[in-house]
Amino acid sequence: MEITNKKKIAIFASGNGSNALSILRYFHSHSRVQVLAIISNNENAGVLNIAKSYQIPTYIIPRKEFEAPSFKLTDFCSTKFDLIVLAGFLVLIPATLIAQYPNKILNIHPSLLPRFGGAGMYGKHVHQAVIRAAEQESGMTIHLVNEDFDKGKILLQKSCKIEATDTPERLSEKVLLLEHQYYAPLIESFLLAEG
Ligand code: GRF
Repeated sequence: MEITNKKKIAIFASGNGSNALSILRYFHSHSRVQVLAIISNNENAGVLNIAKSYQIPTYIIPRKEFEAPSFKLTDFCSTKFDLIVLAGFLVLIPATLIAQYPNKILNIHPSLLPRFGGAGMYGKHVHQAVIRAAEQESGMTIHLVNEDFDKGKILLQKSCKIEATDTPERLSEKVLLLEHQYYAPLIESFLLAEG
């Protein structure tokens, strides 16, 4: 992979990778930003096939390594990134990594935080809880990452209406559409605002 003076992103993902795909599409051939690595804790994650199709290097880091008190990303990957982008990453980010990348780790969450966030609120559990609570709207939140799940500074929220007939699956589709539309442009403006 060509190393340039572009801003360097690492995407961390544990699952399907539809957000990773939309980010890779957005920055493919971008003049100032480049995705340089996909990092996963899950060797069976769908996102790894997406990385392969875009010829992006992948790194599998098992959960127990992330959870080790001495965790250092540089033990696995020597690149110094400008930004770490979490896209469906299901492991708590270690304090050592937050210290190494202060205000340089973004996450996307499939609800309007602080509603329906925190431990256990991931994937379909979020949408099930939103429907069960008979909410009229839901949406997505992009935020900075700190040491508590889903509690860092909110950078962007977008909402969608919930119809009485919506199932958790249908709601998940609506929210993913918002995620795919807004995550990559937010990453771009966040990175380029730094100059
Ligand atoms: C998204 O809903 C995102 O908000 C959450 O995990 C899901 C990841 O989906 N953090 P995908 O793997 O990008 O399809």
